[in-house]
Amino acid sequence: MTDRYAVFGNPIGHSRSPWIHARFAEQTGEDIQYDRLEVSLDGFAEAVELFQESGGSGLNVTVPFKEEAWAVADSRSPRAEACGAVNTLLFRNDGGRHGDNTDGEGLVRDLRGNHGVTIQGRRVLVLGAGGAVRGVLQLIAGEHPAMLLIANRTVHKAAELLPLCHDAEDTAACGFEDVAGHGPFDVVINGTSTGLSGELPPLPEGIFADNATAYDMVYGATEPVFLRWAREQGATRTIDGLGMLVEQAAESFRLWRGVTPDTAPVIQELRGAIAEEARK
Ligand code: ATR
Repeated sequence: MTDRYAVFGNPIGHSRSPWIHARFAEQTGEDIQYDRLEVSLDGFAEAVELFQESGGSGLNVTVPFKEEAWAVADSRSPRAEACGAVNTLLFRNDGGRHGDNTDGEGLVRDLRGNHGVTIQGRRVLVLGAGGAVRGVLQLIAGEHPAMLLIANRTVHKAAELLPLCHDAEDTAACGFEDVAGHGPFDVVINGTSTGLSGELPPLPEGIFADNATAYDMVYGATEPVFLRWAREQGATRTIDGLGMLVEQAAESFRLWRGVTPDTAPVIQELRGAIAEEARK
């Protein structure tokens, strides 16, 4: 029998997850169906219950429901427990719900596996302190950077995330104007939502070390503004969030199916499809 999965979010029309999981299923021969559902803002818990009762096997959860997904899980992985957000629910045979968060693993695998970027022993700057950053910070710290600085417009929100960073050798939180005093950095990761509106966080110049990598958690047909700025500032390598998207999906797929898909051809094909859509 075909097992059913879906991604819940609001809005959800833009989600690439059904496409990605269809590729994974094709590649691994797993018999699954994967849909997307726009859930009303006050209807998340009920929608999860309905999907589970109707025989669904698991869910991906995206903005703005990741915290609510954490709450509806009755068991959680340590990485989901720590960040307070769940992007993957797995319905157990006993009727319970296991919650996990694969975003941090997706980011680290993309950096390390797809791009050969090491975090261990490096000076790392993370920009932003919202949900996107909260979900990945513990995994970044778990790679043991020499320094992990969180910079955010609202400084106290960055400081509140420091407990997630205890695996880093040294940590600090500050506003954008104080970043230069802690630099330069080998890896700079933009997790603010500024890119979505074509803006840049107000960063000082000269924050990149030699051979630095700039990473933006967003992706699109055109280069994110932050990556363009980073290139102009001398960053050697610039990486957008498309690989992270596919890698977090692969980790969800592995949790559900026990099979790890090969992400490289899916990343390549998705990159091509996005470029093709933009040309039309
Ligand atoms: P997400 O789920 O995408 O992380 P979020 O939780 O609303 O969304 O977080 C948005 C992040 O982008 C925050 O770090 C926010 O900074 P504040 O905490 O100070 O609000 C940051 N951000 C949004 N717009 C920004 C702007 N114009 N300049 C700088 N930072 C911005």
